[in-house]
Amino acid sequence: MYLRLLVILVIVFLHGHVSIIMASDPDPIQDFCIPNPKFGSIKTLAHLSILPCKNSSEATTDDFVFSGLKSSGNFTETGLSTIPVNPTVFPGLNTLGMSFVRADLKVGAINPPHFHPRATEITYVVQGSVYSGFVDSSNRVFARVIEQGEVMVFPRGLMHFQMNVGKKPAMVFGSFNSQNPGSQKIPSAIFGSGIDVELLEKAFGLSPKQIGTMRRRFDPKTLK
Ligand SMILES: *[C@@H]1O[C@H](CO)[C@@H](O)[C@H](O)[C@H]1NC(C)=O
Ligand SMILES: *[C@@H]1O[C@H](CO)[C@@H](O)[C@H](O)[C@H]1NC(C)=O
Repeated sequence: MYLRLLVILVIVFLHGHVSIIMASDPDPIQDFCIPNPKFGSIKTLAHLSILPCKNSSEATTDDFVFSGLKSSGNFTETGLSTIPVNPTVFPGLNTLGMSFVRADLKVGAINPPHFHPRATEITYVVQGSVYSGFVDSSNRVFARVIEQGEVMVFPRGLMHFQMNVGKKPAMVFGSFNSQNPGSQKIPSAIFGSGIDVELLEKAFGLSPKQIGTMRRRFDPKTLK
């Protein structure tokens, strides 16, 4: 009787374990896989397409070097610039289960609350002083100013944020344990996605006019 129970428990445990493994980036079964340009490029990140690799004898050193992080990207009106680097722009990363981002923040600028559904992020402050933090699933906040040379980790799927609190521009480098971490900005997901106004009014206790203001502010058509 106990033995049978034990067997069932082991099966349940293994099943859970296997599903966890299946839910992450797969382990590579070859050294690398540079997508063959003949079959197009990896374009849509929400639904990543798996492309055939080019013959490894055709791979070159340049396939494994990315030169697009030497300077910042374009800044938004709120003073944030991000350059996400994943296999869409750096094919050498394909199948390796990693990606990264360079973020620049002007003085006072913020990286609004957002989360990555498929990756934990490690952020390294290359320059500046950045108030950084995340909120766990019991709504406890873990946040403080991290200085140049310090590192903070944002656990997978948890909402996190940053603000340049220094007197000069800040730069952070983030790396992800997924080649396709995904990124969902909370303000845009809520006010810029077209959720029914009545629901938003009830959820936030705001008037239709206030919801309208928020919707215009986070309208994806005007948001840069
Ligand atoms: C890859 O290239 C090598 C050298 O050109 C060739 O011998 C091999 O057949 C190619 N493999 C495939 C699968 O095309
Ligand atoms: C910045 O904007 C310009 C003009 O829209 C564009 O050509 C360029 O590729 C952008 N740079 C980055 C890093 O996105």
